[in-house]
Amino acid sequence: MSLDQEAKKVLLRKIPHGLFICGVREGDDVNGFTASWVTQGSFDPPLVVMAVRSEGSSHGIIERTKLFSLNFLRSDQKDLAAIFFKPQTALGGRFEAAPFTFGPLGMPLIDDALGGVECELMGQVSKGDHTVFVAEVKTATLHNDGDALNLASTGWNYGG
Ligand SMILES: Cc1cc2nc3c(=O)[nH]c(=O)nc-3n(C[C@H](O)[C@H](O)[C@H](O)COP(=O)(O)O)c2cc1C
Repeated sequence: MSLDQEAKKVLLRKIPHGLFICGVREGDDVNGFTASWVTQGSFDPPLVVMAVRSEGSSHGIIERTKLFSLNFLRSDQKDLAAIFFKPQTALGGRFEAAPFTFGPLGMPLIDDALGGVECELMGQVSKGDHTVFVAEVKTATLHNDGDALNLASTGWNYGG
C-alpha cells in the first residue's frame, strides 16, 4: 500500500513543537541554528531528543564534539528564531544578533533568552535526511522564566 503523501504531510504538521536555538562549538568556532524537532526523552537520566539535518554545518560539530546547548526563546523572540535559520556569511555570524555567554561545559547560552541547557551526546540514529541525537542534560541555566516560543505561533512549518 502506498503512502498518502498529502495525508502524511497534514498529519505530521500537527505534531506540536517548540522553537529553540541549538548552540555548538568546536575550538574557536561557535555556531547556532533554529531547531524545532526537539523533545524530552527520559526523566532519569534527563534526556533530550533532537533531529538535526545531516547536511547542516552544525551536524558534524555535534558528532565530533558530542556536545550542544539548547536555548529556550521567549514567546516574543520570533525574529531571533528567523535569524538563526537563514544562511549566514560566516559560521557563527548569527550570534551577532544574540550576545551569549559560554556555559559550564563551554556551550553558547544566549543571554537574552529564558535560559539554556547544555547536553552531552549519548547516542544517535542516522537513517534519513536528519540524524536523531539523544543527549543527556548536564547543566541548566534559568535566566527569566516565562512563556516559550512555539512553532504554531509563528505561522511557519517545519515538518510533513
Ligand atoms: C521553523 C524551522 C524549524 C527548524 N527546525 C530544525 C530542526 O529541528 N533541525 C534542523 O536540523 N534544522 C531545523 N531547521 C533548519 C535549520 O535552522 C537551518 O537548516 C539552518 O540553516 C542550519 O544551520 P547550520 O547549517 O549552520 O547548522 C528549522 C528551520 C525552520 C525554519
